[in-house]
Amino acid sequence: MKIDIVSVFPEYFDVLNLSLFGKAQAKGLVEVTAHNLRDWTHDVHHSVDDTPVGGGAGMVMKPAVWAECLDDLLGLEPATVTPSSNNSNTSVAATTDATASVPSTANADAAPEGTDIAASEESNAAPVNTTADANADASDAPAAPVSAVPPASDRPVLIFPNPSAPLFTQRDATELSHADHLLFGCGRYEGYDARIPAYYRAQGVDVREYSIGDYVLNGGEVAVSVMLEAITRLLPGFMGNPESIVEESYTGEGALLEHRQYTKPAEWRGIRVPDVLLSGDHGKVDRFRRDEALARTDEIRPDLIAKLDCAALSKPDRKT
Ligand code: ADE
Repeated sequence: MKIDIVSVFPEYFDVLNLSLFGKAQAKGLVEVTAHNLRDWTHDVHHSVDDTPVGGGAGMVMKPAVWAECLDDLLGLEPATVTPSSNNSNTSVAATTDATASVPSTANADAAPEGTDIAASEESNAAPVNTTADANADASDAPAAPVSAVPPASDRPVLIFPNPSAPLFTQRDATELSHADHLLFGCGRYEGYDARIPAYYRAQGVDVREYSIGDYVLNGGEVAVSVMLEAITRLLPGFMGNPESIVEESYTGEGALLEHRQYTKPAEWRGIRVPDVLLSGDHGKVDRFRRDEALARTDEIRPDLIAKLDCAALSKPDRKT
């Protein structure tokens, strides 16, 4: 799997040389490149952000610099400006990049009045490796200048961490583990201009936006690390023991929390492991663990019980 990451702090990803991920890179299972977004800037300050249109605190990452970077990494031709056909307003995709070197105070990249990105707000709907058209609703998408889009199979899935996006789940990790190429874009500050994902969706790119939890981080780097680990550990050959990913929380029983684990000794500081785990009766052990997984999930995450796949729960106990 090829992985590109764009960040203003690419050094964050040096840790990917450690541990299992480092081994996976050495084995050639994953090939990671962390890019510095500022390499695509043209001004002396290498600026990547500007004040929010409409006011408010903080800074927003500019679309123009992201577009130069993403066009390069996606192998797309830079867009040319094509005014919207039926009115004087400018569509998302027609927003010019020609302002990249305009000082930020000029606010020249600001969305003209009437720009509507809502039409292209698809939320992570397309399965990996489906055609681009399934992801971007062609009828609703803004009138984007269509670039030379590489075939879907050669195109990376473009992923932006975003605290205001749908939650990233084990299901997403599993799906994305089948992709050949992932491209992550790490936002900073108050986030990135919403026209960036909208534009690339309109170009037929499979664009995903995910939150890793209901809290706000300082930027997307940690969220990308989390997603990356959840995805890549599912790659065949990544884990030393492939069995260890089969019966984990959020996988084995549909979406249950995992039962508790114990190791030797059987008694430690006066606390014994449950006797059934010492019985040698695998059927009983399986049933005990399944009951415990259900009880713990019911207590800690009742929301998962509501989503349970009951068929998965009735699978037979292991044979040995
Ligand atoms: N960026 C900041 N907070 C985030 C979160 N919770 N998930 C994904 N990206 C983020």
